[in-house]
Amino acid sequence: MPGRIGIVGAGYVGLPLAQVFAEAGQQVVLIDVSPQKIASVERGESYIADVPSENLKRLVDAGSIGITSDYDALKEVEAILIALQTPLSAQREPDLSIVLGAVHDIAPRLQKGQLVVLESTTYPGTTREQLQPVLEASGLRVGDDFHLAFSPERVDPGREDWTTKNTPKVVGGITPACTERAVELYRRALETVHPVSSPEAAELTKLLENIFRSVNIALVNELAQLCDRMKIDVWEVIGAAATKPFGFMSFQPGPGLGGHCMPIDPFYLTWKAREYDFYTEFIELAGKVNENMPYWCLGKVTRALNAHERALKGSKVLVLGVAYKSDIDDTRESPALKLIELLQEEGADVSYHDPYVGELPEQGLSSAPLDISGADCVVIVTAHSGIDYEAIVAQAPLVVDLRNATGANGTENGKVWKL
Ligand SMILES: NC(=O)c1ccc[n+]([C@@H]2O[C@H](COP(=O)([O-])OP(=O)(O)OC[C@H]3O[C@@H](n4cnc5c(N)ncnc54)[C@H](O)[C@@H]3O)[C@@H](O)[C@H]2O)c1
Repeated sequence: MPGRIGIVGAGYVGLPLAQVFAEAGQQVVLIDVSPQKIASVERGESYIADVPSENLKRLVDAGSIGITSDYDALKEVEAILIALQTPLSAQREPDLSIVLGAVHDIAPRLQKGQLVVLESTTYPGTTREQLQPVLEASGLRVGDDFHLAFSPERVDPGREDWTTKNTPKVVGGITPACTERAVELYRRALETVHPVSSPEAAELTKLLENIFRSVNIALVNELAQLCDRMKIDVWEVIGAAATKPFGFMSFQPGPGLGGHCMPIDPFYLTWKAREYDFYTEFIELAGKVNENMPYWCLGKVTRALNAHERALKGSKVLVLGVAYKSDIDDTRESPALKLIELLQEEGADVSYHDPYVGELPEQGLSSAPLDISGADCVVIVTAHSGIDYEAIVAQAPLVVDLRNATGANGTENGKVWKL
């Protein structure tokens, strides 16, 4: 049992975490409900870009990483790390059903001496108010019989300088002993662990990080809209402001927020704050500005086509990049999907090209070859590297560049319309 760690959820967070612990000499058993993921890990084939298949295969072959759907495997581990999805419901309220379903499955298997850590992003109070009572229904008491903590994952998929291993890890336990235990566990595999006084502090830390980004992106998105009206190049302004060596941090405007975290997590806090008669107005305002961006970008495409004496309806629009950010294959909550939907609703003939995303099954589209010849307008929604944007500008009759990928001067230079 010592040196054996269970990770529930073998996704974007769970699989890299398994790799890091296994490489530090721990034995990891992953628990997942997806037969495809189980089969894939068993073959040593990775489906997460940050975990190279050759690493995974080596660790699986050496017996350092195993995977199963059977929660009974958790009876044999010293620590259980939960890395499951925390989405919003259709009414945009926290949906903890996946996490709590798993905790209900863990409780009857909980062993004396085990450590349980929730890694999923959630509102302050989740670990104490939601997990602790379910786990204590086992008859074991937190602090005495088992340890419970929260430690947010900070992985930035596709990033190479800051990885799961060297990104500092914040940890807050229900009792000081819970914190100490969790800190000791993570220190075995991660370079820096930062303890805080409670799970609530750790839960809110993660939300602050995401809210900080969301609010700052909303600020530059709003500024981009004003700059469009004033015919000022917002990218030039942000680049110039970024030359200030202190007191400024640069954020880029764009077609909207994407990914599993940014469009979702801030609203976990908004929901919880209502319990305290508190309205998180910055979060709401940022959400409003960011959610409006695909609609605003639709207007920009329409205006650009109009300037070329074309209606959006019937125009051939090639969307370049549909992943939610550059150089990854993840399309969750990608603003490109919303923009495609809006373009299609207006009668545009939409195709897309993305070297990382072969299919968009819900849109009934597959990635088309990068052939500009037939397009009336190319819309750069996600700027993957490795694409020759100069050649695109040279060949296309009209380019709407929502990421400043072309580096064109000004906001509208006839052919290139920049956000
Ligand atoms: N993806 C990121 O970049 C990122 C970064 C930081 C934090 N987070 C947070 O981490 C959490 C997990 O996110 P993710 O992106 O890894 O999700 P994910 O969807 O990639 O992974 C979740 C995994 O859990 C599995 N699963 C679902 N129900 C299960 C169950 N009952 N038992 C066992 N396995 C089950 C799924 O099959 C999937 O493999 C979320 O709260 C997210 O907000 C994600």
